[in-house]
Amino acid sequence: MNVLGIETSCDETAAAVVDDGLVRSNIISSQHVHSKYGGVVPELASRAHMRLIVEVVEEALVQAGTSKQELDGIAVTQGPGLVGALLVGLNFGKAMAYGLKIPFIGVNHMEGHLYSNFLSEEKPSYPFLSLIVSGGHTMLVHVTSNSRHRMLGQTRDDAAGEAFDKVAKMLGLGYPGGPIIDKLAINGDPEVITFPRSYLEEGTFDFSFSGIKTSVLYYLKRQGILDSEMNKTSIDGQHLANICAGFQLAVVDVLVAKTMAAAAKTQVKDVTLAGGVSANSLLRNRMREEAEKHQYRLFYPRLEYCMDNAAMIAYVGWMKLREGMKSDFELHAVANLSLQSHPG
Ligand code: KG4
Ligand code: ZN
Repeated sequence: MNVLGIETSCDETAAAVVDDGLVRSNIISSQHVHSKYGGVVPELASRAHMRLIVEVVEEALVQAGTSKQELDGIAVTQGPGLVGALLVGLNFGKAMAYGLKIPFIGVNHMEGHLYSNFLSEEKPSYPFLSLIVSGGHTMLVHVTSNSRHRMLGQTRDDAAGEAFDKVAKMLGLGYPGGPIIDKLAINGDPEVITFPRSYLEEGTFDFSFSGIKTSVLYYLKRQGILDSEMNKTSIDGQHLANICAGFQLAVVDVLVAKTMAAAAKTQVKDVTLAGGVSANSLLRNRMREEAEKHQYRLFYPRLEYCMDNAAMIAYVGWMKLREGMKSDFELHAVANLSLQSHPG
C-alpha cells in the first residue's frame, strides 16, 4: 500500500511516500524566512507552504519512483499546528485524493511523532514509553499497542523546544535556537551557572519550563548582558557557552528524571524519544546512560525523523488506512487538536 504523506503544521513543508511501512522518499523544505524574527510568523508560514507545496509533493513522488496513479491513499496532518499552515496541506491533500479517487485520512501530528521511531529498521516493541519533545509540545505517552496510548503528562506552560528557542532569542542566537545552544554548550561548563529545575509536585509527569526561561532572563539582566531595553550587550564566548550549558543541563535533567520515573511506573522495557528536541546531543547521551543503567532499550529517530516530517504522517496514515479507516472531505484543520488517550 503506497501512501503519500503531507505535513504543513508549522514551518516545514514536507511530503513523503511510505510503501507498506517502508519510507520511499522524505522531502522536507524548511522555511528560512522566520529566522530573523526569532520565531515562526504564521502568515509567512502559510504563504511559504503555498509556494512550496506543489514542488515538494512532486519531488516526493519522483524520489519514490511512484506516479500519482500508483498511490493508494493520502495522509495529511490535521493538527495541532498553525491553522493557516495546516489548511494548505489539508486542502491540497483532500483535492488530490478527490481527483485520484483514493482514500484520504487526517493524522494527528503528535501521533506522527509517536511513531517516528517505527521509520527505522529496528522498531520498539509494545508497550513502550515515549517522550515527545518539540517546539510546541512536551509529553510523556504510554503506548500499549497500535494507536492505543495514554498521555501520562505534558507541559503546563512552555514546551522544552520553546524554552530553547526563547533563551536563544534572548542571547541573539537566531532561530531555531535548540541546535545552536546544543552546539555552543559543548564548550561550556554546565556547573558554573546553575538554573532551577522544576519538577512540580511529587508524582506528577507534567512539566514546566517557563520558570527556567525567566531565570535565564533575570541572570542576563543581572549580568548586564541584556540592557533595560532588552538589547543584548557584549558577552565573551566562554560565558555564553557556560550559560548555554547550564540552561541545557537544567532542561535535560528534568526530561531524563521524569522519563525514567514514568518508565519505572509503567514497567515498560522500551523507551523512545521523538520530536525536534530529541536531536539534542546531551539529551541523547544522558538518556542512553540512564537507559543502560536501568536496562531499558532506548530508541531515538534519525535526525530527519526527529524534526517535523511527512514520513511519520504517511506511516500513521498507512497504519490506519490498512485497517479500513479514512476521513471524509469535511474534515477540519484543528489548531489545538489533542492527542486523545486510547488506552488498550
Ligand atoms: O518537532 P519540531 O521540528 O517541530 C515542532 O513540532 O515543534 O521541533 C522543533 C524544535 C525547535 O524548538 C528547535 O529549537 C528544537 O526542536 N530543536 C532542538 C535541537 N534541534 C531542534 N532543541 C535542542 N537541541 C537540538 N539539537
Ligand atoms: Zn512536531
